Amino acid sequence: MTERREAADEKEARAVKGLTAIPHRVGTVALTDVPEPSQEEGVVLVESLMVGICGTDEEIIAGKYGWAPPGRPRLVLGHEALGRVIDAPPDADVSQGDLVVPFVRHPDPEPCPNCAVGEWDMCRNGRYTEHGIKERDGFLQERYRVDLDRLVRIDPSLGELGVLLEPTSIVAKCWDHVTRIGSRARWHPRRALVTGAGPVGLLAAMLGIQRGLEVHILDRHTDGPKPTLAREVGATYHSDLSQLDTKVDVVVECTGSGALVFETLRRLHPNGVMALAGLAASGRTTTLELDAVNKALVLENLAAFGSVNANRRHYETATAALAAAERGWLRKLITRTVPLERWEEALDEAPDDVKVVIRVGS
Ligand code: BGC
Repeated sequence: MTERREAADEKEARAVKGLTAIPHRVGTVALTDVPEPSQEEGVVLVESLMVGICGTDEEIIAGKYGWAPPGRPRLVLGHEALGRVIDAPPDADVSQGDLVVPFVRHPDPEPCPNCAVGEWDMCRNGRYTEHGIKERDGFLQERYRVDLDRLVRIDPSLGELGVLLEPTSIVAKCWDHVTRIGSRARWHPRRALVTGAGPVGLLAAMLGIQRGLEVHILDRHTDGPKPTLAREVGATYHSDLSQLDTKVDVVVECTGSGALVFETLRRLHPNGVMALAGLAASGRTTTLELDAVNKALVLENLAAFGSVNANRRHYETATAALAAAERGWLRKLITRTVPLERWEEALDEAPDDVKVVIRVGS
């Protein structure tokens, strides 16, 4: 055997299994061998335990979103991760066995003024990268490497529930910005409406309740786990907006329905704040009296803002929020766990799904 062949064989042997897809090409998702993570990717070697599936993964798989790392056709999927440290430098503040959650987004290389101060979620030039989404491999592989400044350690008592940290960080950012925007004047919000009772909506409701607000959830489901989960967390559930007979101080919009954005805007009290966290398939059209929308915004000091991604501060708030939550309720959010070899089942939507998770390691 030649030396070169041996080296190639060794490299092959050091491959790990990963769920990959060629972005913008439908039908390319497959469990493939991907190279063993290299030192340049980070000093912390992590065993991938669980990865949640969300609408963004579905969009990438459907060929509508995502970018592979430069020079490669395939992108390793997965960004809602929970892992266990296999190896870390001796002076690091994480060590072997710690449960960790890696950040999705990396600051842009320039960096822009926001990325320069750790607010990569507010990147201004769009040159950020995201694991499993934009130009960086994701966490749906047996092992990965990350740098010490790209992860948070979670409360070990959370165990597998740590897989909910990334979606919780998304709503922690929404609430952070709601508070910052609301505080432009006297701000004592009492009531919030969350639209959408998927995992993001339910977690947004949980954070609202933890902040002492009366929370209403609107979702079209009339049965299945969503109405029950909404009530169990302490929210009032509505399957039709007409059932909500009060105005609210905050709306956290998690459905991505443009029509609902404008319908719920009218439910805000003066000075109310609306966080837009949802995305939906585009293409729907409607007729809207834009001058009336403008008038409502102006005359009532309303604010609506978009919110994407999260930075370290939000992951930390989210860790505390999950640690304070009722574990039994959090467990019920994960309605299906599928082993990596049976990944196809995870992508088959079932009517009672809330959060579907792929188990990568044990
Ligand atoms: C992820 C975010 C990401 C966004 C846009 C979401 O699914 O949770 O972290 O920034 O997609 O790519």
